[in-house]
Amino acid sequence: MPTQFQIESIGLAKTCFPQKFGTPRQAGLAKGCLGKIIFQNQNDITSMLDGLKDFSHIWLVWWFDQNTNKVLKSKVHPPMLDGEKKGLFATRSPHRPNPIGLSVVRLLECTKDYLLVDGIDLVDQTPILDIKPYLPHTDSIKDATATWPLDKNQNRLSVEITSSLEEKIKHFENDIRKEYNHSLNLKEAISNILSLDPRPVVYKEKPYKDDYKIAFYNFDIQFVVENNTAIVKDLLLR
Ligand SMILES: C[S@@+](CC[C@H](N)C(=O)[O-])C[C@H]1O[C@@H](n2cnc3c(N)ncnc32)[C@H](O)[C@@H]1O
Repeated sequence: MPTQFQIESIGLAKTCFPQKFGTPRQAGLAKGCLGKIIFQNQNDITSMLDGLKDFSHIWLVWWFDQNTNKVLKSKVHPPMLDGEKKGLFATRSPHRPNPIGLSVVRLLECTKDYLLVDGIDLVDQTPILDIKPYLPHTDSIKDATATWPLDKNQNRLSVEITSSLEEKIKHFENDIRKEYNHSLNLKEAISNILSLDPRPVVYKEKPYKDDYKIAFYNFDIQFVVENNTAIVKDLLLR
C-alpha cells in the first residue's frame, strides 16, 4: 500500500500567465515573466522568511492544479525530441503520479505578504507547497550532463514587434508597474516568450491556425509565425 500524506498549500502564485498556452516550458527561460507568491494564513510567516532575501534565486515547489488528463501515461513526448517518446520520470511533464512542479526563479523582493519573482513557468493561481533557497554550491553541478538537445537557445524564433505598438507597450508597462510594484522592459519580455516558440509541437510543421493569441499580464499578444519569425500583430487589452 502506498503511504499517504496530507499536504496544504502555503500560498498562491499570482502570475503573468492567465492560461497555460504561452507559459514557458521551464522556469528561467524568459526574463520579464513576473509572479507574486502570496501567502495564505501562514502563521509566523515573517519568521519563516527571515534570511531568504540573502539568496538571488529560490526553488518553488508547487501543484499542477490545472491538469486535465484523466489517465496517467508512462511514456510522454518531450517537446524537444520531435515526437520521440520517453519515460515519464525522464521528463518534466506536468502529468505525474504526484503532480508536483519544481521551478528555480529569481527572487526580486521578499516581504511579509508576498515574494516577487521573475522567470516563472506557473500559470496564475497555482498553489505553492514550499519555498527553498537555491544553493549555488550544490544545486549547480558543473559536470552534470544530458544527451538530449536541451540548449537554452535551440529552436528559438526571431521576433518582430512593430514600432506602431510602442504606445500600447508603454501603456501596459504602466499597468504592470502598478500591479507588481516593479518596472520591466515589456518589449523584451514579449520577445523572450515568443522566441521560445509556444506553438504546440504537432502544429509547427502544419499550422492549424493562421494566428495565435497568448494571454500575458492583462492583455493578449496576437501573433503569426512566418519563416521562423514570430510577428506581433497586435496587443489587445483583455
Ligand atoms: C513542463 S512544466 C515544468 C514545470 C516545472 N519547472 C517542473 O519542472 O516541474 C511547465 C508547464 O506546466 C504548465 N503549467 C504551469 N502551471 C500549471 C498548473 N498550475 N497546472 C497545470 N499545468 C501548469 C505550463 O503549460 C508550463 O508550460
